[in-house]
Amino acid sequence: MFIDTHCHLSKEYYDDIDLVVEENKKTGISKMIVSGCDKESILESMLFASKYSDVYLTIGYHPSEADVICEKDLILLENQLNNEKVIGIGEIGLDYHYGKENMEKQKELFRYQLDLASRISMPVVIHSRDATLDTINILKEYPNVKGIIHCFSGSLETANIYISMGYKLGIGGVLTFKNSNLFKVVQGVGLDNIVLETDAPYLTPEPFRGKTNSSKYISVIADRVAELLNVSVEEVSDITTKNTLDLFDLI
Ligand code: NI
Repeated sequence: MFIDTHCHLSKEYYDDIDLVVEENKKTGISKMIVSGCDKESILESMLFASKYSDVYLTIGYHPSEADVICEKDLILLENQLNNEKVIGIGEIGLDYHYGKENMEKQKELFRYQLDLASRISMPVVIHSRDATLDTINILKEYPNVKGIIHCFSGSLETANIYISMGYKLGIGGVLTFKNSNLFKVVQGVGLDNIVLETDAPYLTPEPFRGKTNSSKYISVIADRVAELLNVSVEEVSDITTKNTLDLFDLI
């Protein structure tokens, strides 16, 4: 059984959510951790979490929201964190790929949510794009916060810095792309430091690229990890599941 540590479930992407959740269960997904990362998706994913026992949530404001978030939105987030299905804050972080002009606002929102995580001892899910140095420096300000570096795609050196700070790497469909060097990272850090994720509906693994991604494809990523580390798929499943359960304090 696998846990998809990061996916987006929304009627915007899937016609029939019941069917998607049912299909995922049949293909060996024991838990889906859905990321609600703006006001609409937070509220929508809360509904799914109350309806499906296998759906858990991380909620938080993505850096792309930095310009639009107001006090009221932060209160909404804080209130929803009390829900028993919410197990982490994310995805939060920095994205300089799409926006460098509001760096300071992004940093402010990031620090606000890290501070929240620190105060209530919740793990975080980090989105970092073209912003590695600032991400590392800001995370260092919160040494008691742990979590996942979502969709990790950096170097082995960067991976080891995050790992030394107590973070796990979220490994997904990128691992199956021909032009990706992520295989070197997976081989370098080993099973103990990774968790599996799809980021569905995005980043569909090969050979299904072009189709809408879904948690059911996590086995494709697990197969590739097993092949790279020369271990069985069961071992990949057991250890990545344990890493996830430990991090989020789940059973
Ligand atoms: Ni995501």
